[in-house]
Amino acid sequence: MTQVTVTTRDGAVHTLECRDGLSLMENIRAHGLDELAALCGGNMSCGTCHVLVAPDSLARLPPVGVDEGYLLELSPHRESCSRLSCQVTVTQALAGLAVRIAPEDA
Ligand code: FES
Repeated sequence: MTQVTVTTRDGAVHTLECRDGLSLMENIRAHGLDELAALCGGNMSCGTCHVLVAPDSLARLPPVGVDEGYLLELSPHRESCSRLSCQVTVTQALAGLAVRIAPEDA
């Protein structure tokens, strides 16, 4: 288990005990944070699992993939710290990761 902090759109901070080997999206959903819609179920076709990673956590993540970057570019809320949480696998190396659920795209 790896501890990750997730801030929801209302500003509430949730500390999650995440299962290693599952995606960050799967872990967030498993904890009942349904505002992360993840409509495509992790098939990287919806962009509704968009999170913003705290700058001090960003270097611990693998680089953004080509397809992930393409999908993120479609969001008006993209920032340099944007990631699709379905493409981030939780491992012990991410202990203490902090993310914020991105604003909902119109
Ligand atoms: S869940 Fe659809 S792109 Fe991540």
